[in-house]
Amino acid sequence: MSSIDILEICQPDDWHLHVRDGEFLPDLLKHTASQFQRAIIMPNLKPPVTTAEMAMAYRQRIISALPKGSAFEPLMVLYLTDNTSPEQVKRAKEAGVVGFKLYPAGATTNSDAGVTDIQKCAAALDAMSDCGMPLLVHGEVTHAEIDVFDREAVFIEQVLEPLRSRHPGLKIVFEHITTKQAAQYVEAADTKRMGAIAATITPQHLLFNRNAIFSGGVRPHYYCLPILKREEHRLELVRVATSGNSRFFLGTDSAPHLKGTKENACGCAGCYTAWHAMPLYAEAFDAANALDKLEAFASHFGPDFYQLPRNTGRLTLKRQTQDIPEDFPMGAGTVVPLRAGETVAWTIVG
Ligand code: DOR
Ligand code: ZN
Repeated sequence: MSSIDILEICQPDDWHLHVRDGEFLPDLLKHTASQFQRAIIMPNLKPPVTTAEMAMAYRQRIISALPKGSAFEPLMVLYLTDNTSPEQVKRAKEAGVVGFKLYPAGATTNSDAGVTDIQKCAAALDAMSDCGMPLLVHGEVTHAEIDVFDREAVFIEQVLEPLRSRHPGLKIVFEHITTKQAAQYVEAADTKRMGAIAATITPQHLLFNRNAIFSGGVRPHYYCLPILKREEHRLELVRVATSGNSRFFLGTDSAPHLKGTKENACGCAGCYTAWHAMPLYAEAFDAANALDKLEAFASHFGPDFYQLPRNTGRLTLKRQTQDIPEDFPMGAGTVVPLRAGETVAWTIVG
């Protein structure tokens, strides 16, 4: 823990966020928009957001649901399918879409329409390389025989490395990394002969290891995908996040589900962190004595990678413990945040 008690930084962006749709939007967006200037909005709706037209319509629904006067900007990505065509990629680029998201079919929430074999997407991936459109990757294999804790590491060998060799011009974001293998892969990746690569890291993967899911009983609000891993992996994620390496930046993967669908015999994956995202990251960086590295991770490296301007606004965090509510309204129901009913050691004060 450092002696810094007030931290003023360039306003951050969230490079990986779920805000769902319809009646849920106003309740969820106000939490994100109070901290972040921009966020990449995940396209795993039902049905998934697969075309530029759908993305623009979704963007309008988001803008209409923002708190009055908010300058928050949603950045749209499309859901890659086996059938995404090069023409769709071109249209997406022209419409201002910032990337495509690869969900291996069956990997996570609403991923049934995902890619069954990445080789089927070769023409679309070439079109993405040609126009500098990044591929955002949910990096887990989905074969039932692979242990759930090994799926990310196996993905690197079986899918990611061959994909980068086949498409050496493709820019890739390895989303929500959870293992030392992913951290070290991204850190060491050769970007001279192959495309640029970066990784996002969530607050829960910096703060918790897999024991959190089972402490005193099953704790569904700590269950997300990729699942929390052993302590050695958490430590490696903290190391790279706080190393000042521009390949690692903020993406909360805040993924709200109605309370009853998480506290359930077959509970959904996802941690809700939008309300307290920056305080949680501040706590994680503080614990590593690296508060001086938070600004670049949260506010510089993301826009630099996406070739967007850095924000001009500011955000101020104070070392001041606050209670985390038990739940928040989410449409007609409620959503339970990560660490509900406990505290977080930092508060946003401006
Ligand atoms: O935990 C997760 N929840 N991981 C994902 O990849 C998807 C997300 C969701 O949409 O709920
Ligand atoms: Zn996600």
